[in-house]
Amino acid sequence: MTGVNPEAPTTATAPQELRARGVARILISETELQQEIRAIAAELDAEYGTDQPLMVGVLTGAVAFMADLMKAMTIPVQLDFMAISSYGAATKSSGVVRILKDLNEDIEGRRLIVVEDIVDSGLTLQYLLEMLKARNPADIRVVALLKKDKPDAIEVQADRVGFHIPDEFVIGYGLDYAGQYRNLPYVAVLDPSVYTNS
Ligand code: IMP
Repeated sequence: MTGVNPEAPTTATAPQELRARGVARILISETELQQEIRAIAAELDAEYGTDQPLMVGVLTGAVAFMADLMKAMTIPVQLDFMAISSYGAATKSSGVVRILKDLNEDIEGRRLIVVEDIVDSGLTLQYLLEMLKARNPADIRVVALLKKDKPDAIEVQADRVGFHIPDEFVIGYGLDYAGQYRNLPYVAVLDPSVYTNS
């Protein structure tokens, strides 16, 4: 058998440690994430039954959540993805939203589940929802894994939020900083030295 020996002692340079460099602290563990996702999946199963919803994932951050959520659901679902511009390498929302990749499916009359990684200022989601509503779906439910507790965030539809988190820049489980950290299996706070020293 090949691969990493889980019993082997880890060092700072072991590959499995490199992906976690810059992690200040783990905010939501893998176990907590999976438990909440199973709960959300059960709710969606009960809500949609045989209606076969279209799950719309917002790339790239929602990929981890979308994958685990759809596998935890037992009803038949379909998937589609959109890509919208986000922060680039910065840690604050620019308010500039741009479609990088549109849906493949015609959503008129469909029941949509919009799957978002995180609602921060709410600008991205607000823009996305306006655009989707204009295409006349039957209904839209928004499921966001994370929502930042932020007094100045705009009011936006988020029907089900997995975790409310403090207003800090987070990484992991799909979320990146400058394209890194997406494959951490947990949500963590990024050490500010990572972006203040660069
Ligand atoms: P909003 O438009 O400010 O709500 O930001 C939404 C998008 O910004 C999310 O879908 C993420 O891609 C990204 N984002 C917001 N906050 C964070 C964060 O703390 N870490 C990583 N990405 C974030």
